[in-house]
Amino acid sequence: MGNTVVVGAQWGDEGKAKITDLLAMDADIIIRYQGGCNAGHTVVVEGKTYKFHLIPSGILYKDKICVISAGTVIYPTSLKKEIDELIADGTNLSGLKIHPLASITMPWHIDIDGISEDKTAKTKIGTTKKGIGPTYADKIGRYGLKVEDLYDEEALNTKLDNILPLKNKILKEVYGLNEYSKEEVLKLCKEYAEIFRPYVFWNWQEVLSKAVKENKKILFEGAQGVMLDIDWGTYPFVTSSNPIAGGAVTGSGVGINAVKDAIGVMKAYVTRVGEGPFISELENETGKKIQTIGAEFGVTTGRARRCGWFDAVIAKYAALVSGLTGIALTKADVFDTFEEIKVCVAYKDKRDGAIYEYYPTNVNIHKYLEPVYETHAGWMEDITNCKTYDELPENAKKYLARLEELIGVKISIISVGPNREQTIILKNPLV
Ligand code: GDP
Ligand code: IMO
Ligand code: MG
Repeated sequence: MGNTVVVGAQWGDEGKAKITDLLAMDADIIIRYQGGCNAGHTVVVEGKTYKFHLIPSGILYKDKICVISAGTVIYPTSLKKEIDELIADGTNLSGLKIHPLASITMPWHIDIDGISEDKTAKTKIGTTKKGIGPTYADKIGRYGLKVEDLYDEEALNTKLDNILPLKNKILKEVYGLNEYSKEEVLKLCKEYAEIFRPYVFWNWQEVLSKAVKENKKILFEGAQGVMLDIDWGTYPFVTSSNPIAGGAVTGSGVGINAVKDAIGVMKAYVTRVGEGPFISELENETGKKIQTIGAEFGVTTGRARRCGWFDAVIAKYAALVSGLTGIALTKADVFDTFEEIKVCVAYKDKRDGAIYEYYPTNVNIHKYLEPVYETHAGWMEDITNCKTYDELPENAKKYLARLEELIGVKISIISVGPNREQTIILKNPLV
């Protein structure tokens, strides 16, 4: 038993929120450590669907502390919408806390993300256009605003005097976009301060350090996935934060020993939204079938997700860079009507036949790589009501066992449907 991080182990949308919601039952604190409202997290409880973007998926339990931590970027307007919708829905938000060190996405970040991604852009990443990259760029460039700045008039004025002239020059001269006056930005900041006010937790780090010492159970919720990590993903076709397990440490401000387990969430196949390499992608009827049965459309942007066979090469890599101690395998039920299921076990270089069993981090060569598949017989029956491992059909067990063998990490959780109860827990890291 120990504090656990839930990490997306592919290109996002693996079903992290479902797994976080499930594990949150046994946690005291749930911390969202990176990313912003680019995330779209779905939780289904008693047939009711909840969609989160920034608010931790543990919020549906009344007695948990749910923190949007320092490693995140927050667009206040989006957060307000999410908060308002949850309140209208009757969700109790008394456990929600916002870290004063979280970065703020300002309207110009959204403007720049939008124009960098429009039709005329040379390298399109296919971002969610939520201003994520420009916000993190300014944070790293020390040109950003943090939540705490909103409550200190002097600091805010000084920072805006520093930020705005340069930002306006860039907006106007580089992008041909509208400038922002200091007056309008100050007015916006006042509005933002009111959105955050009920939730800002000034001495959170003190409370967290006590919680760690008292062995309170902490669940760290990742957004996006390892292959979208700014350092470890398919750069530049990535997001601008660190979804890997290590991101939980830097984004939450805990020591490395505060995290014991890392559960990598993986679909029984792979999806990707936006541009970038995807070696096991299926641009055919099989890919369409996965997309249709798996309802693979983005929660945040509504875009159709690209689909492909399970890629054990990236799964092995994700296990390595995130130190996975367990796997939560989701959406195996999507294959209920598949006579055969393929798994990509290696890549072959079309130029010289070289075989890669380990993920080549040089993305520039990915265009030359093709998948090497092994084929498994499908189970051809409905597994959505299976409550135990033993109830699973033999071919499903064989498929899961082979994935474990290829990745070298045990499966701890098997998800066979979107509902909370459609889950087989083999090993709960928190209990
Ligand atoms: P996240 O971003 O990783 O939290 O995942 P998303 O919410 O973007 O996408 C996962 C989708 O799959 C959601 O619609 C979930 O309700 C759904 N889902 C999660 N687990 C399962 C499963 O085991 N089977 C099926 N059929 N759907 C699932
Ligand atoms: P969750 O948490 C899937 C993708 C975008 C784009 C790239 C960069 O729901 O798994 P960004 O807006 O972050 O600058 O876009 O990252 N992307 C996601 N894909 N799931 C997500 O979040 C994503 N968040 C960003 O599609 O390719
Ligand atoms: Mg998602």
